[in-house]
Amino acid sequence: MIKKCLYPAAGYGTRFLPATKAMPKEMLPILTKPLIQYGVEEAVAAGIKTMAVITGRGKRAIEDHFDISYELEHQIKGGSKENLLNEIRSLITQCTFSYTRQVEMKGLGHAILTGETLIGNEAFAVLLADDLCTSQNDSVLKQMIEVYEKYQCSVVAIEEVPPDQTDKYGIISGNLVDSTTDTYRVTDMVEKPDPKDAPTNMAIIGRYILTPDIFNILRKTKPGKGGEIQITDALLEQAKEGKVIAYKFKGKRFDCGSIDGFVEATNYFYKKGI
Ligand code: UTP
Repeated sequence: MIKKCLYPAAGYGTRFLPATKAMPKEMLPILTKPLIQYGVEEAVAAGIKTMAVITGRGKRAIEDHFDISYELEHQIKGGSKENLLNEIRSLITQCTFSYTRQVEMKGLGHAILTGETLIGNEAFAVLLADDLCTSQNDSVLKQMIEVYEKYQCSVVAIEEVPPDQTDKYGIISGNLVDSTTDTYRVTDMVEKPDPKDAPTNMAIIGRYILTPDIFNILRKTKPGKGGEIQITDALLEQAKEGKVIAYKFKGKRFDCGSIDGFVEATNYFYKKGI
């Protein structure tokens, strides 16, 4: 059973400056909903109710979003706009949200390690809110939890990316273990390889199920690509023991950390109707 989801949200979001100068990237809206709300909805659809957010300076809007705004609620009570808060209110009622700050931005691996106090000694989900996922049936996290329940080890969601874009992702290689569910046992992984050095075009997207031994591994992980502590390097330690499964998820992902992906997601949800 996966009960907790960790949201690393401490990054600077430099690709969206100046919008992200005083506002977290995770609060950028696709239509009327901030990215992180989509992420929380995905986790709730997977049966998760305990949300743990890694924040940093300038990220307080995330905490305010997942809290009641008495003044606003009072203002719109009884009017036609009251129902606009239904979805967020339902999340606030169903879930608990805890926050801790990553004081120095030392990379995604370091952000996840900062979450140890909120997670404890149990397997947990990690969701990067700027990767917005949508699927027809089960949410991507729900699909991954099923894979975790079968293999009882860490699980990463993957998708095939154009070969010239491998330098934007963690790239895996692995052996197919189940063709019906598109699952691979990971044998190698490398962070943002140059296309000419990439072993495959199978890229890790912002969804993980991690077993708690990852924290001890992360404590020992040295800064890697870009001088940051990389989750990919820590996962490679688990992969060497055969303990990482890569799962080609069913659904669609938008890289909302990039302008192109953000616009694509906006158009997609606009056409679909929210
Ligand atoms: P990104 O690589 O997208 O970096 O981080 P970023 O700072 O958010 O955005 P750009 O590249 O400057 O535009 C991937 C995820 O890891 C989190 C980010 O918040 C994002 O969800 N992260 C990254 C942290 O929480 N802490 C870090 O030190 C680094």
